[in-house]
This record gives sequence, C-alpha cells and structure tokens, in this order.
Amino acid sequence: MTGLTRYPSNDALAQHLAALPDLKTLFAQDPKRGERFSLDAAGLTLDYSKNHLTEETLALLAKLAREAQLDEKVAAMFAGQPINHTEGRAVLHTALRGSVAESVSVDGAKVRDEVQATLARMEAFVASLFKGEWQGFGGEAITDVVSIGIGGSFLGPKIVTEALKPYWQHKVNVHFVANIDGAALGEKLAKLNPGTTLFITASKSFGTQETLTNSESARDWLKAAGASFADLAKHFVAVTANVAKAEAFGIHADNCFPMWDWVGGRYSLWSAIGLPIALAVGMDNFRALLAGAHEMDKHFQSAPFAANMPKLLALIGICYINYKGATSHALLPYDHGLRALPGYVQQLDMESNGKGCHQDGSAIDHLTGPVIWGAEGTNGQHAFHQLLHQGKQLIPADFILPLESHYKLGRHHAMLASNCFAQSQALMQGKSLAEAKMELAGLDQDVIDALAPHKVMPGNRPSNTLLMDKVSPQTLGALIALYEHKVLVQGILWDLNSFDQWGVELGKVLGNAVLARLEDADQPLDLDASTNALVARYRRHQKNINA
Ligand code: F6P
Repeated sequence: MTGLTRYPSNDALAQHLAALPDLKTLFAQDPKRGERFSLDAAGLTLDYSKNHLTEETLALLAKLAREAQLDEKVAAMFAGQPINHTEGRAVLHTALRGSVAESVSVDGAKVRDEVQATLARMEAFVASLFKGEWQGFGGEAITDVVSIGIGGSFLGPKIVTEALKPYWQHKVNVHFVANIDGAALGEKLAKLNPGTTLFITASKSFGTQETLTNSESARDWLKAAGASFADLAKHFVAVTANVAKAEAFGIHADNCFPMWDWVGGRYSLWSAIGLPIALAVGMDNFRALLAGAHEMDKHFQSAPFAANMPKLLALIGICYINYKGATSHALLPYDHGLRALPGYVQQLDMESNGKGCHQDGSAIDHLTGPVIWGAEGTNGQHAFHQLLHQGKQLIPADFILPLESHYKLGRHHAMLASNCFAQSQALMQGKSLAEAKMELAGLDQDVIDALAPHKVMPGNRPSNTLLMDKVSPQTLGALIALYEHKVLVQGILWDLNSFDQWGVELGKVLGNAVLARLEDADQPLDLDASTNALVARYRRHQKNINA
C-alpha cells in the first residue's frame, strides 16, 4: 500500500499504521480507551475506539488533513465558491439548512432568501393538502401523493420518510416511484384513485428518462380517467431547475418548486425535493430535520480535528482504504426505520467519490470511494456477517443504533442493542485457536483438532458505533449531514471532485442507441457482438409474443 504519497506525512503515517498493535492489545493497554475515543455532537455519539488508532494516529491524521488544506477547502464550500469546477457550480446544500452566511449569493441572488421563499411555498402547499383544500379534477380532496423521481430525487426523501414513520401526520398518503420498470408505477396506480391522486415530478434536470416516462404514464392514466389537459394542473407539481421543460410537459410554472445548480441531486433532500417528507411528517418536523443537519454543519465547521465527527470518520476510513486496501465499507443500522440508509449512502458516497482522476485531470493511482453496502441489523447477522467475521477481506463497518425505540415491545430493544454491541465486540476481539479448542473441551482430541480451526475468528476488525437517543427528525438530519461531510472530507483528501457524476453519462447515451434497436426491428444490428445478440434475442421474443 503506497498510501497518499502526495502528502509529506504519508510515509510517517504508513509506518505508524503498520506498526500498531492489534485492537485487543490496544484495549488491554488502555482501560479508558472506550471513553477516550468517543465523542458527542449534534445529538449523536460516536464510539470510534474499535479502530486501529492511538492518540499518535490522530495527530498524524490531523497533519495529513492540514497538508490537504482541508479546513480551507471546507470553508470554500460554505462560502459558495464554485468548487464543483467541472460543472462550474457552487456547492451549497448546506444553505438549505441555514448554514451559510447571509451574504452568500449566486448569480446575484441571495441564497438564503431563495431558501426561505421556497420553504414558505412548501409550507403553504403542505397546508393546503393537509386541510383538504387542494382538490382533484372531480372536486375531491387529494388523499395520495406519488413522488416520481430517481437517484437523489428519490433516495433521500424515501429513506427519511420511511425512517420517520412514527412522526407521520396521516393527512395524505405518500408514495414513491423511481424505476423505469413498469411494475413500479403499475403496482401503485392499481391501488390509487385518479381523482384524488397528485404527482410530484421530482427531477432537477427534468430530463431523466425514468422520471419523464413514469410521469408521462401517470399523465396518461389521469387522462384515461377523464382528466382534461387543464385538469392536469390539479394533479401535477414539479420540483425542478428546468421550469421550461416542466411547462412543456404540461406542469404550470406556478406548480414548479425550484431547484438550483448549487444543490447536487444527491444532496437535495433538504430542498423542495424533500416535499414528500414534509407531506408525510409535516413542516415542523421537516424544519427539525433541517435543524439537526444545521447542528452537524456547525459542529463540522467549528470542532477541532480530534473532536470532529465527520473529519474523524473520513480520515479513519482513509486509513483502511489507502493504507490497508479496504475496498468496501458496511453500514449496519440497528433500526428497522433506517433499513434503507445503506442504499442512500451508497449514492451519496459512490456517486461522489467513485472517481478516477484528480481535480487537475491527472489519473489517481490509489483507491478512492469504497463500495458502500449493508442491511439492517439483526437481519444481516443471519446473512452476511459470517464474511465480516471470518472472510479474507478487510471490511470496516459502522453500527448505528438508537438507544430508544419508538415501539415499546417487551425485550425487543434490549435484544436489538445487545446484538449491535456484541457484533462489534466479536469483530474486534475474535477467537484464537486456543480459545476455540477450550470451547470444544470434552470432545475427542482428533475432533477438537479438526473442528477448532473452523471456529477461529481473526478479530482485529474495525468498526464505529454511532448512537442517538432516538431516531427523530433532528438526529436523522444530523446523521445524514454527518455522512455528507464525511464524503466531502474524503474527496478533499483524494483531491477529486465529489460533486460531478460524468461516469453515469455513457450508459445513458448507449441506452438510447439500444432502445432504438429494441423498438425498431428494421434498425441494423451494428453494435458489438454481445449486445447485438442480446438485442436479437429480445426481438425474437417480442415477435413471438406479438405473433
Ligand atoms: O444519473 C445520475 C443522476 O443525475 C443523479 O446524480 C441524480 O440524482 C439523478 O440522476 C436524477 O436526476 P434528476 O433529478 O435530474 O432527474
């Protein structure tokens, strides 16, 4: 592992990390290690003691961060500088939760004013639906809202809405449709009444194939039920930066909530893209979500490195990725409501830091963003934890647990928490051959010798544990902002642009060429041999079913 050779302190860090004792020894050496390496911020507690680090590690990581000009680059983001330079854009999602100075403006418009005006519009919209004032084409109040969007226009609102189920106001039912697979929309429409259903087309670009196609099919469904073109205004709103395209689709400009170039899709749940959240939990709770994220923003900007949660998580992650070759990172929420969090952080992290060139275009010669994956505890324990414990890869993990459940059911929560704590303990301490043999005492020696190696667990496997009192709008806001900032910090250390996503473009372009050949059998099969054969097979099947 060469580490991050661009930084002067790289070699010292690499040598230091290679010489660290294992976790069991570190814990034996310092009975206060658990307290020493934990911290509180914005309603979250992070225990990072089960990581390969000492005070000296933290000092070296702080040095690396200084060499990367981390603080200056973080300040540049909050100041509204165009740090997304490949798209010529500022990165100001933090403004959506009131975390940038009043003076910050983009293209002559004060960002804070735009945010406040949009929140006011959202407030009025939510109120009109809650009061039953927004009516469909038959004069009935809207009962169901379907948010149509994908990627960042879907994942954030979906995970937050799901996680905050105990806060639902039950005034309107909120649904999500993302996939182009007709099953996604079809299953929803089958259960809905056109006269009382409102669609939100959530697309920053208003050019995303999945979202446009689903919206068109929803529009056809309304028309088939008797809605006129003019009636569509009662059944469609948009959240977009491209009002002209929304209008061309048939959504009135008055029904368009703004998105801005300075908010990336995967950072947009705090904007009007978060309307489904507000419709589910109410504006007060939506504002509390913003307030929780704002607390994390303040902490991120002001806490010194050794007490800075996002910076620590980021730099600790870099130790495993760049100095120990970890290529993936598991997110293990021990909370049913947070079960979609790994999928959300997947986009946030992998679309931001899954990059291969530095800011100046030169090739990166080390690992960058890891594969993010995971599932809710304890389900994962009965599925993939085996590999975490005994597999050959190093997979750092984040365990996430609320100390209190919204559902008071017997001993469930204590059991959930015990599983969470015991898993990180098992990963850390492992089981030696001698311990495995002791466990088998009483059996024949040849059986012990044969079985014991299978029970050995190497241990020394790192993890973080994140706790919060309860999953609430505030703590959830802080948790998501924590991961946003972790991603930013890693991107800065790797000197890449975390805010573009050019890698998704080629597949879209090729997809259009393939679609043309799937839908028109007269088009030549002039693609590569594999794709030609797949298209031909698809065409044969279509011919059979249409015969
Ligand atoms: O294709 C990737 C992407 O551009 C994401 O970055 C984005 O969140 C998603 O598609 C949806 O984009 P839009 O909101 O413009 O429809």
